[in-house]
Amino acid sequence: MLPSIEWDKDKVIMIDQRKLPKEEVYVECKDSNQVAEAIEKMIIRGAPAIGVAAAYGVALGLLNVKKEENLDEEFNRIILRLGKTRPTAHNLFWALERMKETFDKNRRLSLSWIKQKMIQEAQDIERRDIKTNKKIGSWGKSLLKDGQSILTYCNTGALATAGYGTALGVIRAACHEGKGIHVFAAETRPFLQGARLTCWELGREKILVTLITDNMAGHLMQEGEISLVITGADRIARNGDTANKIGTYTLAVLAKEHGLPFYIVAPLNTVDFNLTGGGEIKIEERNPQEVREIGDQCLALPSVNVKNPAFDITPSRFISAIITEKGIVRPPYGKNLEEMREKK
Ligand code: MRU
Repeated sequence: MLPSIEWDKDKVIMIDQRKLPKEEVYVECKDSNQVAEAIEKMIIRGAPAIGVAAAYGVALGLLNVKKEENLDEEFNRIILRLGKTRPTAHNLFWALERMKETFDKNRRLSLSWIKQKMIQEAQDIERRDIKTNKKIGSWGKSLLKDGQSILTYCNTGALATAGYGTALGVIRAACHEGKGIHVFAAETRPFLQGARLTCWELGREKILVTLITDNMAGHLMQEGEISLVITGADRIARNGDTANKIGTYTLAVLAKEHGLPFYIVAPLNTVDFNLTGGGEIKIEERNPQEVREIGDQCLALPSVNVKNPAFDITPSRFISAIITEKGIVRPPYGKNLEEMREKK
């Protein structure tokens, strides 16, 4: 299985997701600032993968601290820098919080021990993400039937996580069970995660995939070619409202109009229980050049005004179920997400 990110003694190695599928290039990060830049530039992306990268960024930052007396100041600087990279994915802040707890718990140890503990914690976050995804897959696969055509959006696979994937993990699990699934991958403008990454991942796994442009989804639903829609999430408020890749909301509305199930797949650390509703989720606005250009290709004049929100909010009334590692959550989400969090 494809690793999106790996720890290697005193550095972090990531596959450069901007270059796929044309080139398989690996990027090495030797300090926390390089990890922060990799997240900002989307060398690594996808909410769970961003969380794992941030955890390694903290470990790497501390590994570079030479003098004990600078430790607290350095630690706070590293956390602040990584926390400013991308605002929407809750997994990033969840991972930074876990690293902070580990730091506080081990603060009295010697500097070299603290460094070890922080590396171990980041590795644990990575390992657990893969386990979590596999559990999500084993719950979610029951919702997919042999012979279905499934529309997915953005990239929610091994690349977007520490491995295996969330929504793509569910598809993967159903296929491994022998179900014949046909995936429609929407290209996902402007960054093209669907066209570039999802098609590449599914192709490597020999899972049948057909690429469509984003504006073809409604037509295919009308023609009866889609059985259900399944996507990931970047942050879920406690009432189930979900932030995910820009364009997800459109698909959810279309699915409702056509009476199709619309599933969100995410680990419980994507749920931000501090937020009452989707209106409180901060939506990242990205560089306008991403809309004016594709690769080196200019699509519009540099003077053209552009809006480039990276995510949108799907209100929970459009979501048929949220698939997590502890089980499948159905409405009412306020009560049922909370119960799922408490479940042993
Ligand atoms: O901007 P990106 O590529 O980081 O956005 C990714 C998504 O929107 C994914 O659907 C989400 O992070 C879930 S990935 C398992």
